Amino acid sequence: IAHGKPQRAPAWWQGKREKLLALAEAGTPRYVYDLATVRERARSLIGIESIDRCFYAMKANSHPAVLKAIVGEGFGLECVSLAEIERVFEAVPHMAPERVLFTPSFAPRREYEEALRRGVIVTLDNIEALQRWPETFRGRTLWLRLDLGHGEGHHEKVRTGGVAAKFGLPLARFDAFVEEARQLGVRISGLHAHLGSGIDDPQHWRGVYASLAGLADSVGTIETIDIGGGLPVAYTPEAPQFDLGQWRAGLAEIKAAYPRYGLIVEPGRYLVAESGVLLLHATQVVEKDGVRRVGCDAGMNALMRPAMYEAYHGIQNLSRYDDADTAIFDVVGPVCESSDVLGRARPLPAATAEGDTILVADAGAYGMAMANTYNLRALPAEEIVE
Ligand code: LLP
Repeated sequence: IAHGKPQRAPAWWQGKREKLLALAEAGTPRYVYDLATVRERARSLIGIESIDRCFYAMKANSHPAVLKAIVGEGFGLECVSLAEIERVFEAVPHMAPERVLFTPSFAPRREYEEALRRGVIVTLDNIEALQRWPETFRGRTLWLRLDLGHGEGHHEKVRTGGVAAKFGLPLARFDAFVEEARQLGVRISGLHAHLGSGIDDPQHWRGVYASLAGLADSVGTIETIDIGGGLPVAYTPEAPQFDLGQWRAGLAEIKAAYPRYGLIVEPGRYLVAESGVLLLHATQVVEKDGVRRVGCDAGMNALMRPAMYEAYHGIQNLSRYDDADTAIFDVVGPVCESSDVLGRARPLPAATAEGDTILVADAGAYGMAMANTYNLRALPAEEIVE
């Protein structure tokens, strides 16, 4: 699908084009994050009265300045590895451990032990961990992640529920887990579910809360219900903005129906996606069999999302921003894979040429976080603007 310049409300970077061109001169690939956008997104969630606590899923973007800004707005942080936990306490040394949540997948025993030693909240998502490592968990307070039987999200690879997914305790084993925990003196104080990423339906989360609240009553020790992340952002020009008002109304209603539990959300993408752009330089413009391609100095090594999920990111030629987008290009990277395409059939100025600065929009979430050194290419640089 071809799209031209953004039609919706101007993105932060549209007013900072000169600054971005100057930053690109310091070298590309380079991610640039706007902290004002991060703070604004964080504030839009932190003020919602039915939500008791928000945790930012730092896997989306773990830049220390981003973490500090989000914690400064009142968020806790959700981590999935020991290295993420360590990053938290480096970036925010005074962080209270109870504002850190550890939700790993198939982590080694050592990571659970270290997380417990540090006093962060630990979530288990299978019964085998309790059975194999009883001494690690005996007498502890834990949260339990459940698989509600189905996944949701923008691509099958980001759906985290159902038989094909590795995450979560299936409902059929819930009673067995509760019994196993009772025998070990483990107190289950939170129930958690995260069904996927980029979920468009604003009513999805109230359904998750209702399902978990129904189960919580039978456990007796549950204080909090974590309904996961997964809030979407509008990547394509025609995608509707997520209806936060409806989301909020749905949560208020369901919270009123089950007022006993603290409601927790843990979004990642929503806070950071639109805050980030990836700056590249064009390397070559090549025509082959009627397809015109502009090559860039990074591709799927810097931003995996298009190759991995067919994800759409807006692409602009910043050096010729005032020119009309009159030609159609595939925008590709230098990696030796056919999937190394950042965007197909994109309208760009016809004069697009070697040395132009190319901007890839909405790249603040799962961009740098998933960058790699394939083909021995260097990782992108990162830059913060206020
Ligand atoms: N909580 C848990 C347990 C998660 O696994 C995730 C994301 C989140 C919260 C935050 O989800 P978000 O609000 O960002 O949708 N690389 C993919 C997304 C993978 C998400 C992994 N888990 C992408 O670029 O679309």
